[in-house]
Amino acid sequence: MPLITPIVAAVSEPTAKPARFLLVGVGPHAKRTFIKHLKVLKDEGKAELVAAVDVIPNQARTEEYAAVHFPGPELIFVPMFRDPMPPSVVVQLDEVVARLGIDCVIISAEPECHKAYGLWAIRHGLHVIMDKPITVRRNAVTDISQAAGISEDYHELLEAYNELQTRKETFFLINSHRRYHPGFYCTSDMIAEIQAKTGCPVTNLVSTHCDGLWRLPGEIVDQHYHPFRYGYGKVSHSGYHFLDTTYLFMKAGWSASKRPDEIEVVSSFLMPNGFMRSVTTKDHQDIFGAEAYDATTGHSEKQVEELMETMGEYDAMLQIAFKREGEVVSTAHINLLHTGFSRRSWLENGKNPDLYKGVGRVKHESHEVRSGPFQTIVIDSRQANDKHDRSKPSTAELGSDNHFEVQSWRNCDVLGESDPLKVYTVADLDRRYDTQLPGIYSENVKRGILWEAVDYLKGNKLLNKMASNLADHSVPAALMSAAYASHVRRTLGLNPITRIDLSYSSSRCNHSPPLVHKC
Ligand SMILES: NC(=O)c1ccc[n+]([C@@H]2O[C@H](COP(=O)([O-])OP(=O)(O)OC[C@H]3O[C@@H](n4cnc5c(N)ncnc54)[C@H](O)[C@@H]3O)[C@@H](O)[C@H]2O)c1
Repeated sequence: MPLITPIVAAVSEPTAKPARFLLVGVGPHAKRTFIKHLKVLKDEGKAELVAAVDVIPNQARTEEYAAVHFPGPELIFVPMFRDPMPPSVVVQLDEVVARLGIDCVIISAEPECHKAYGLWAIRHGLHVIMDKPITVRRNAVTDISQAAGISEDYHELLEAYNELQTRKETFFLINSHRRYHPGFYCTSDMIAEIQAKTGCPVTNLVSTHCDGLWRLPGEIVDQHYHPFRYGYGKVSHSGYHFLDTTYLFMKAGWSASKRPDEIEVVSSFLMPNGFMRSVTTKDHQDIFGAEAYDATTGHSEKQVEELMETMGEYDAMLQIAFKREGEVVSTAHINLLHTGFSRRSWLENGKNPDLYKGVGRVKHESHEVRSGPFQTIVIDSRQANDKHDRSKPSTAELGSDNHFEVQSWRNCDVLGESDPLKVYTVADLDRRYDTQLPGIYSENVKRGILWEAVDYLKGNKLLNKMASNLADHSVPAALMSAAYASHVRRTLGLNPITRIDLSYSSSRCNHSPPLVHKC
């Protein structure tokens, strides 16, 4: 049974040769990050991209791109699949791994196939870097089994990974790149410092992330990229990052006696049809011209409404209560927004558009994290322009591509410090954590995970010091699952409070992370 038989029993040894990477998914994200950064690592003699996998329908496009941007690595094409991996693909990829001596697989494909590739890579005893979110489930907004399935998928991967660790140590990193961002680990440091000085954990957190996108109705119903049409949306797109930062900030303030034992999640989703009540067909027609708008949309108003009926969430608001022994001890409010201030002013996106950055996207992100009366940290990052090449130079200023600021407000008299307010810019954070690099700051942060992987493979980093290993994602994965489960309960007229049990032991031998239940 090739699908389930483990085929490794070795021990990882640091390698003097460049580490050999296999990339799965040559999409916009891999092109912007992994392919670019692996070239740098190759020049430094540390790592090499030896092969890349994509789907047969994308063969011509991928070959064309590879010929110009990364000639050399073998290209492998597989039929389109989601989960599980078809046996013929298993055979095809098994051969590649054995022949090319792969050390690490980067899974940067469409998230619906993440689990299949993850389980396959674990079976080979390979190191893994997997893009967020860990998995997605179709119809998670309408089917409680699918919503709960997100946490079951995580369990299945973790169980397989833990089993592998009994025979071979490997990493399985989730590319949640804020874990590699000085602004975020600086915030965690400051939370931990207040906890150490005063005993106070985080008592309240408000996070807002807006993709600053405006996808038009015809695109909402038709688009396969970061789709709504399959019954999941914003929470499964960039939402995972903020479930993760919520966990990281909370965890930074936890101590044995103050760690919560339960989480309650209540979500409110704005659905595509709800958005269409705010910005109606007539409003769209008034902005773009009725004739041009109708011609571009390709569906009647009624068809759009019917198609949107089962689609994924457009915006999401989560209210989260962290409890200990039945008492709420801290609260979080997370706004995950597809739309908000955007720079889109056009109707058609043209041929082969960049559907991620090239459609008027301007990110706005903010976090306020409070540790009782002792500290409030504010993180603020706001761009004014969509395309970086039409932006002002990338300074740290408000509205520029690199705008990123951390403010720490502290009760200095209690803490014995001189100033109540300190402000850290990107430049300050670069100096503090020695990470200075040219270019767009957030893009450089996205290489952190590769550098960490290579450090480990060279024997320069221990597994338990890695920033984003799979076992440390049980809470954000459960939050994602619970966000959908809460929405389904609400739509069924049930109590939307969805509980996550945290009263498990986190010791490695008795690790039973939280599951979100179907009922
Ligand atoms: N951290 C970040 O800031 C960030 C930003 C964007 C995307 N992402 C994540 O990165 C991943 C890739 O994103 P993307 O925007 O490039 O996505 P995408 O949907 O374009 O998919 C990437 C590639 O995967 C290929 N693919 C689909 N199914 C496949 C299969 N079964 N086998 C092999 N290849 C397959 C597609 O053909 C495509 O070329 C996703 O998980 C996404 O959530 C992360």
